[in-house]
Amino acid sequence: MNVRDSEHMIAELNKKEPYELTQNLSEADLIIINTCSVREKPVSKLFSEIGVFRKHKKDGAKIGVTGCTASHLGRDIIKRAPVVDFVLGARNVSKLPNVIDKKHAVEIDLDYDDSTYSFGEYRTNPLKAMVNISMGCDKSCTYCIVPATRGEEVSIPTDLIINEIEKAVNSGAKEVMLLGQNVNNYGKYFSSDQEKCNFTQLLRKVSQIDGLERIRFTSPHPLHMDDEFLEEFAYNPKICKQIHIPLQSGSSKILKEMKRGYTKEWFLNRCAKVRELCPEATISTDIIVGFPNESDEDFEDTMDVLEQVRFEQLFSFKYSPRPLTQAATYENQIPNDVASARLTRLQKRHTQIVDEIMNSQMGKIHKVYFDELKSGGKVSGRSDDGKLFFVKGSEELLGQILPVRVTKVSRGALDGEVV
Ligand code: 5AD
Ligand code: SF4
Repeated sequence: MNVRDSEHMIAELNKKEPYELTQNLSEADLIIINTCSVREKPVSKLFSEIGVFRKHKKDGAKIGVTGCTASHLGRDIIKRAPVVDFVLGARNVSKLPNVIDKKHAVEIDLDYDDSTYSFGEYRTNPLKAMVNISMGCDKSCTYCIVPATRGEEVSIPTDLIINEIEKAVNSGAKEVMLLGQNVNNYGKYFSSDQEKCNFTQLLRKVSQIDGLERIRFTSPHPLHMDDEFLEEFAYNPKICKQIHIPLQSGSSKILKEMKRGYTKEWFLNRCAKVRELCPEATISTDIIVGFPNESDEDFEDTMDVLEQVRFEQLFSFKYSPRPLTQAATYENQIPNDVASARLTRLQKRHTQIVDEIMNSQMGKIHKVYFDELKSGGKVSGRSDDGKLFFVKGSEELLGQILPVRVTKVSRGALDGEVV
């Protein structure tokens, strides 16, 4: 989401005057720090990073802080670091051209509606388009700061989404990644008059776009994974067979305290349904360990889900108490050493599972979309089910979807040859 927000900012700046990206800090006229606030670590890094920029920036260069920490801390950022010229919240991206010339402007309106705004065009990788389909979140998971930084959920009008994908396809993209905090809640809230359209219907519409060959999306919420949606996922040939299903915890007791709205059994049932409809699909997940009150038994439930589902990819985190969240006030916060030990055990077991999965790939053939030139005469791309491939080759492979046989396996990526 933040990567796409950054692309939007670059596009908006380019509409105003031609900016050029630079890798050289001392050359920059404008420095934008696009922040995250989902865990504490990135927030604490912000002020040390501002200090580094202050020291090395060229005279007169402006510094802006944008994103979720900007929404959360607002004017306090300027109070603590007066070198910062402007603060722009996550929901206010389209206002960027107006704030860069206003000394100490702060725009963090949580109700601001960017959902019907047509952003300019800028893509880091023109072969793969990221397209927002909604902003904000209508849930209130008790550990999560996002609803307080990105505001209430609103869906982007369907015709804007289709237009944006068509534009991307015309400039060379064969793959789109639909983005939202809760993608499969799409269509619940629109701020404009428009025909009803839920996520499954949106997927059908998007898949009718000529020239678009692959559709990905992130993240769906387990609660909204009805059979109709999973059938569309399984049977629509343009939808990549990789799905991220954020578990958070395997314990129904903890899930309740997290206010996730589903149980361990529902989560397992949905994963089983994915595997029944689409055995080749890969499933990835997010897990938090050490949520307040998490007992050894609760953690064993999480380990049990890991064993049963055997996620191909796992993003795992120690619980980090966040301001503006309910769980930060809960009693029975878990000691750091206990949470660390749980995280280590979870990640260790997951590594073994991934090694088993990857080792079984030797000799298999996958269709790979080549999208990036790498050093050493290699090109990388992803298979339909999300595996990262490296193949010997050059520019002529870029933008092509070709069958590739696996010749070497490692934990994070596969080497292969085009067949
Ligand atoms: N502590 C740890 N992890 C968190 N996440 C969200 N909030 C917190 C928190 N307070 C994780 C969730 C989410 C991912 C983006 O970040 O797993 O799915
Ligand atoms: Fe946060 Fe929950 Fe919304 Fe995801 S669904 S953004 S975890 S509140």
